[in-house]
Amino acid sequence: MPNPSTSGRYTAVAQAFHWVIALLVVTQFVLANWADGLPLGVHKLALLARHKSFGMTVLMLAILRLLWRLKHPPPELPPGMTHLERILARATHVVFYVLLFAMPMTGWLMSSAKNYSVSWFGWFTWPNLIGKNEAAFDLLRSTHHILGDALFVIATLHIVAALKHHFWTKDDVLLRMLPFVRIERAKSENRS
Ligand code: HEM
Ligand code: HEM
Repeated sequence: MPNPSTSGRYTAVAQAFHWVIALLVVTQFVLANWADGLPLGVHKLALLARHKSFGMTVLMLAILRLLWRLKHPPPELPPGMTHLERILARATHVVFYVLLFAMPMTGWLMSSAKNYSVSWFGWFTWPNLIGKNEAAFDLLRSTHHILGDALFVIATLHIVAALKHHFWTKDDVLLRMLPFVRIERAKSENRS
């Protein structure tokens, strides 16, 4: 396996974790907002059940990703980045990791507080974390929504930053997270 600090790229495992989780997070927003627009009924509950299953998948993948990352540090940031840019990049990643745990955990706790079951694609049911508690449900529901808004804002800034690196600064920050891209070739194409 290439050493990320010498190859300057994220490893294939890090890229796979990144893109699968990113896709699931986008799916989560689509499902939650779609369900939000529907009246209470079978269709809404089916969408929320799917939202819960994908959300619990994010939790499991986030645990694996973090454990894996502890053993495999990411590549160094490009030397051209300012001190402030480095702090912002690292802070964004830390907040992302916190939210990748906090979003599923508040969702799971919220469902437990209402005594609604959390199934994983109908294969098995996760245990309730707390007993029925309406006050806790209200608090957890608001927290889940507020953290969802925070995740949306940070993801938007993160995507804008990645595109800025690629199209404006023209460095390797986006390319080294992309699979199937040879950085040298892509860089020369970028300049032409
Ligand atoms: C990365 C994981 C997750 C993300 C990004 C996420 C995101 C969201 C967002 C943005 C909303 C609000 C949609 C709106 O009304 O505007 C929402 C609602 C909801 N989420 Fe999640 N969620 C995640 C995981 C979970 C999990 C694991 C559960 C339960 C086990 C869950 C249960 C719910 C429920 C029940 C609602 C509807 C709450 C209501 O009635 O207002 N979520 N989620
Ligand atoms: C919306 C869901 C997304 C989440 C939750 C997310 C999360 C993350 C996290 C946690 C990292 C840090 C990886 C590490 O060092 O362990 C990261 C890095 C990165 N992400 Fe995302 N990401 C998302 C979407 C995107 C999208 C859509 C793009 C491209 C437009 C992107 C581009 C990048 C790049 C280029 C890096 C590497 C930055 C660096 O080298 O410091 N991400 N992302």
